Amino acid sequence: MRSASGRTRSSWMQEPAIVSSGRPRHDLRTEICIIGAGITGLSIAYLAAREGRRVVVIDSGTIGDGETARTTAHLTQVLDRRYYELERLHGARGAKLAAQSHAAAIERMESIVRQEQIPCGFKRASAYLFTSRGQSGEELEREFVAARRAGIQGLEWLARAPALPFETGRCLHFPNQAQVHPVRYLRGLVEAIQRNGGLVVARAHASKVSPGRPGQVTVKDGPTIVADEIVVATNTPVHSRLAMHAKQAAYRTFVIGLAIPRGSVPEALYYDTHTPYHYVRVQQRESPGSNGDLLIVGGEDHPTGMRDDATMRWGSLERWTRERFPMCREVTHRWSGQVFESHDGLASIGRDGKGSHLSIITGAAGSGMTYGMVAATLLTDMWSGRKNPYAALYDPARKVRKRRPEPASLAGGSDHDSDPAPTKARTLASIPRGEGAIVRRSGHAYAVYRNEEGGVSRHSAKCTHLGCDVVWNSAEKSWDCPCHGSRFDRHGKVVTGPAIDDLRPVSRGSRKR
Ligand code: FES
Repeated sequence: MRSASGRTRSSWMQEPAIVSSGRPRHDLRTEICIIGAGITGLSIAYLAAREGRRVVVIDSGTIGDGETARTTAHLTQVLDRRYYELERLHGARGAKLAAQSHAAAIERMESIVRQEQIPCGFKRASAYLFTSRGQSGEELEREFVAARRAGIQGLEWLARAPALPFETGRCLHFPNQAQVHPVRYLRGLVEAIQRNGGLVVARAHASKVSPGRPGQVTVKDGPTIVADEIVVATNTPVHSRLAMHAKQAAYRTFVIGLAIPRGSVPEALYYDTHTPYHYVRVQQRESPGSNGDLLIVGGEDHPTGMRDDATMRWGSLERWTRERFPMCREVTHRWSGQVFESHDGLASIGRDGKGSHLSIITGAAGSGMTYGMVAATLLTDMWSGRKNPYAALYDPARKVRKRRPEPASLAGGSDHDSDPAPTKARTLASIPRGEGAIVRRSGHAYAVYRNEEGGVSRHSAKCTHLGCDVVWNSAEKSWDCPCHGSRFDRHGKVVTGPAIDDLRPVSRGSRKR
């Protein structure tokens, strides 16, 4: 992503590349093939490899450059959906199991970090949830009661979040949460998987997934992988046309990083109840000559493909932050990421249908880091015939309410975000260098990108998932689909499912779709 100012950076993690395994030259037979080498796929591969299983992980990109590189890596039981909502949707026992599963995930990650000696800055930290200015404290009152019933250890009221430069008012304190450097953690997992005989293969795009016993995954221009079990760990499933996609929705979320003097904000996780809500944490900077920390602030979510106003959203984040943290210096980072949020507030983890040997993990919303570990224990227990306490709660086949999810970040407002922005059709000549636009001709819509040299590439604007028209995302230089969140790079190459195929190129003068 090119930054809005041209000086800021698009990720707070400037890390050397993670070394993947060599691309196999021949077809492979394995026990488990995992599609997607983000936190979820690699957590599953790690536990499976530690249990002695033969594992192959493939990813269409390089390792550690997907959504896991865009997370702010809060490891927390403060979920996007409030516990009183989870109680209403899943009962008191469901809310309790959800809280337990994330606490167990944090503990398991901590033990992996210790056991594998991964230098990833894993730290236990407190989390604070406070009321946004001008709101009543009713939401927190309800949340305290429900979260306590859900068994959150040590949950308490505080008069204010300690040592912050602004008055938060009464807040909820969730002790013993954690934070981590996600890419360093991924690197440690990849090395451990490889030490245990597993393969992690980059730039291997799964072009076809055929479930079965055994099932097959076809790598584009590469080998076929035959596996007893297939796992689709690609944020949202890429093998199915509609089933799961009708139960969840995609959101873009926005993040900035600001330089602050070292130690001026306590290392903790902070959330407000604003609409959209803000999430904040501190990261110690280690770059040579740096004598400060980084304050990482996120929020301003909108449904994918509904808006193209990232600069305005980053600006809103900056204003919010400077009003509360006056010690902030320059904005050093800006980026955005994508989450999939289910209608009932919980992820789906498990077999994609009774008797299937293909498993999915999706709908993790803003809790992907911990859900990755929940999925790893759940699936490895399932394959080994062990009972897992969370299997029924996260069963993808559970009944899910049909209304569009209203994530905590959007609840109660921002109506303007729920309708697509009108797509302005443009003429070819009006598209500046480095930008894209939808051009309509003879009733057809074309996704047209003009590169920095002035050359033009044209694709059909029809998303290859189910045919909705994509829209241009000028911050990410991508084509985003408002229907189920597929994304394609400026040249039409698919980067986020559920689409599995690239946008269809259109030669100059072609009128066919
Ligand atoms: Fe389903 Fe585009 S993501 S139609």
